[in-house]
Amino acid sequence: MLSMTRRVHFSAAIADWLPDRKISENESIFGMDCTSEPYGHNYTLDVTVEGEIDPRTGIIVNIKELDLIVRQRVLQELDRKFLNRSVNFFCNRPVTAETLLECVHSLLNRQLPPIITLTGLRLEETPQHVAEWRASEGYEEKDRPGMLLTRVYEFAASHRLHSPHLTDEENRELFGKCNYAHGHGHNYIVEVTVAGPVQPRSGRVIDEALLDDIVNAEVIDRYDHRHFNYDLPEFADLIPSTEVVTKMIWDRLQSHIHAPARLYRVIVRETARNIFEYRGEDE
Ligand code: NI
Repeated sequence: MLSMTRRVHFSAAIADWLPDRKISENESIFGMDCTSEPYGHNYTLDVTVEGEIDPRTGIIVNIKELDLIVRQRVLQELDRKFLNRSVNFFCNRPVTAETLLECVHSLLNRQLPPIITLTGLRLEETPQHVAEWRASEGYEEKDRPGMLLTRVYEFAASHRLHSPHLTDEENRELFGKCNYAHGHGHNYIVEVTVAGPVQPRSGRVIDEALLDDIVNAEVIDRYDHRHFNYDLPEFADLIPSTEVVTKMIWDRLQSHIHAPARLYRVIVRETARNIFEYRGEDE
């Protein structure tokens, strides 16, 4: 099996508001500044399908055919619409990146040619807020597809790579410039992904404001403009390589994410070319 992904873009208006609920309930779902006034996003949607290579053509499906189905089924329904008003799927549920993917899933599933299977969907609402559905993850809750929700954060911090188990010369040899005595800095980009079923009331895997509060308290505000080697007690006996920082971020966040949601993945981008990922250990 081989998979391929087709990317499309669309724009839509949404409102953080359910018309049949009281103001207080809307405020508890969407936050105190929610209103029925629409605002917009430019969405990027990736549709991933899987199939066998046809030996006669070398392709798994005609990309034009796939593109046409996505345009007819999804974009005609969503593009340039005020989703809360114009799309039946949202008449009584919040419009979030997660429910939008549920909607796209319902629009596309069983509409594809039988030679391919829908295996993944990814919706970027902003570069800092991304929902994903993957058939392979298998956490389907009844008939609702499980979702991944990723939020992206950044902080700047210093570190020095120096092991007490090595001589000064061995340290210089192994770590090079990263071993300079007074350390150096990075602008770290942290992607935190939470998995779980979409909650019917909120339309979310996790309350994004709550996730932001957790990540800010445990990681961003704690590490921003700090020196890992000197300022942070949890690194006192550790070498603050980005491998270790990535695992530390996972460990600090995991216990704060409560069922049915769970921490799924932490990615730390130390530079554009050095990227680290941790998904915990199998239980
Ligand atoms: Ni470094």
